[in-house]
Amino acid sequence: MKAIVVADENWGIGKDGKLLAHLPGDLKYFKEKTKGKTLVMGRKTLESLPGCSPLPDRKNIILTSDDCFEKDGCVVCNGMDQFFDEIFFDDGQDVFVAGGESIYEQFLPYCEEIFVTRIMETFDADRYFINLDESEDFIKTWSSDICEDKGVKYRFEKYERK
Ligand SMILES: NC(=O)c1ccc[n+]([C@@H]2O[C@H](COP(=O)([O-])OP(=O)(O)OC[C@H]3O[C@@H](n4cnc5c(N)ncnc54)[C@H](OP(=O)(O)O)[C@@H]3O)[C@@H](O)[C@H]2O)c1
Repeated sequence: MKAIVVADENWGIGKDGKLLAHLPGDLKYFKEKTKGKTLVMGRKTLESLPGCSPLPDRKNIILTSDDCFEKDGCVVCNGMDQFFDEIFFDDGQDVFVAGGESIYEQFLPYCEEIFVTRIMETFDADRYFINLDESEDFIKTWSSDICEDKGVKYRFEKYERK
């Protein structure tokens, strides 16, 4: 599996149920990377998406403990076991862990690669990703040139399991 995340300099990823910044270049990158693949996300992240709707052209798997939860265009799983049953026949390379904080935490042990959009600023955040630069398990293997949207600078980076 892979994870994909946009994080600020402190590894902040969200605040008040929303992303920290609107970066059109990052949304385009996310779309290119995940189109046709499977996404797994938490119920709160689904509800943070425009219209609380799943992302098109992808299989959207939603984790929730609510066994009555239903959403058009989503596969709902009530726990990790159910999730692993659901992707049993999928190619693990095609499964992207898409957040939020609780989902990244639980799924990171199963990820081989992490695509990070690293914003070169610090925001007020209440949700975080682990600090990959201090991780014993991952190493940065690629970093793009600096990109900029509306005055916000960021880089696309890739970390791989050591
Ligand atoms: N920067 C990024 O790349 C990025 C990406 C995604 C999200 N985010 C941000 O992250 C924040 C949301 O993160 P979050 O940690 O608060 O919420 P979350 O991870 O999106 O969703 C948490 C919910 O997922 C369900 N869940 C989690 N683990 C489960 C399990 N093992 N079994 C069953 N259900 C499980 C539970 O839903 P129930 O309560 O329904 O049981 C839980 O309340 C937002 O600010 C969002 O914008 C940032």
